[in-house]
Amino acid sequence: MQNILIIGSNGQLGSEISDAIVKFPDLAGFFYDLPQIDITDASSVASKIKEHAIDLIINCAAYTAVDQAEADIDAAYSVNRDGPAVLGRLCKQNDLKLIHISTDYVFSGSARVPYRETDATDPIGIYGKSKLAGEQVIRKISPSHLIIRTAWLYSTRGNNFVKTMLRLGLENDTIRVVSDQMGSPTYARDLAWVILTIINKDVAKIKDQTYHFTNEGVCSWYDFARAIMVIKNLQCQVQPIATKDYPTLAARPQYSVLNSAKIKADWGLAIPYWRDSLTECLAKL
Ligand SMILES: NC(=O)c1ccc[n+]([C@@H]2O[C@H](COP(=O)([O-])OP(=O)(O)OC[C@H]3O[C@@H](n4cnc5c(N)ncnc54)[C@H](OP(=O)(O)O)[C@@H]3O)[C@@H](O)[C@H]2O)c1
Repeated sequence: MQNILIIGSNGQLGSEISDAIVKFPDLAGFFYDLPQIDITDASSVASKIKEHAIDLIINCAAYTAVDQAEADIDAAYSVNRDGPAVLGRLCKQNDLKLIHISTDYVFSGSARVPYRETDATDPIGIYGKSKLAGEQVIRKISPSHLIIRTAWLYSTRGNNFVKTMLRLGLENDTIRVVSDQMGSPTYARDLAWVILTIINKDVAKIKDQTYHFTNEGVCSWYDFARAIMVIKNLQCQVQPIATKDYPTLAARPQYSVLNSAKIKADWGLAIPYWRDSLTECLAKL
């Protein structure tokens, strides 16, 4: 039996892990979020490690407000860099494994072929820079870790693009959505399954690795929005627009496609196509 501490459990990914873990009888999950655990406060994490005799931590906690981060720099670095440093140190001291989630935003988005784990990072905003700093500190401190970068995450829980589009699609006849940013929509449920499958398969193999994981396939935000309207049979028209016509506080990577070949090969995984997973998620909404 592996005792797993899941932090950030009220978020999209944390909630999906909570749902999925019941299918893994050899894994016992202990789920915490603010205010019970604050990853920037070592004593709050240490007490739960002791209380539940934890073997492994999954860090789903993050400062994820991409635009707000541009003004709230200290808070973004506190949660996305200093929090992982706390977890890395505690894992090293207590000989625990650590699975940490990172993002496509560590890349600039200037590539035109899917990013591999070995490609140079070059974040263009505070969120991406703070998440990259979190990766770097974990690599430095804790040898028994996996860092999994994902992108365009959505779920039935929390705030995300799918839920926003559903609301807008019900309220409007027409919406305008950016068509020149490309990525891979990723159902947090699929990422949750991959994380638990990895732990269940061979926990000893969790050692100093970085992986990319998204659902299969590539689309633009416009394609993603169109698929949501079509699958839900909403009459709202989706019009494609350019990024320059939808200004945001933080710049977005234009090309966010991650190559997931390494995680598939190392762990023998099959990854669902984004539109199939989207259909399954929408059936629950
Ligand atoms: N969402 C995406 O599109 C996306 C894309 C690529 C990668 N990722 C990464 O994937 C991971 C999971 O993302 P998500 O979408 O599930 O995030 P989420 O829904 O924003 O959930 C994050 C959770 O962490 C909590 N949290 C924030 N600060 C904390 C702290 N100091 N200590 C403990 N908990 C804290 C949040 O609480 P509050 O809500 O109260 O702040 C929230 O419940 C993150 O590492 C994120 O960077 C996300």
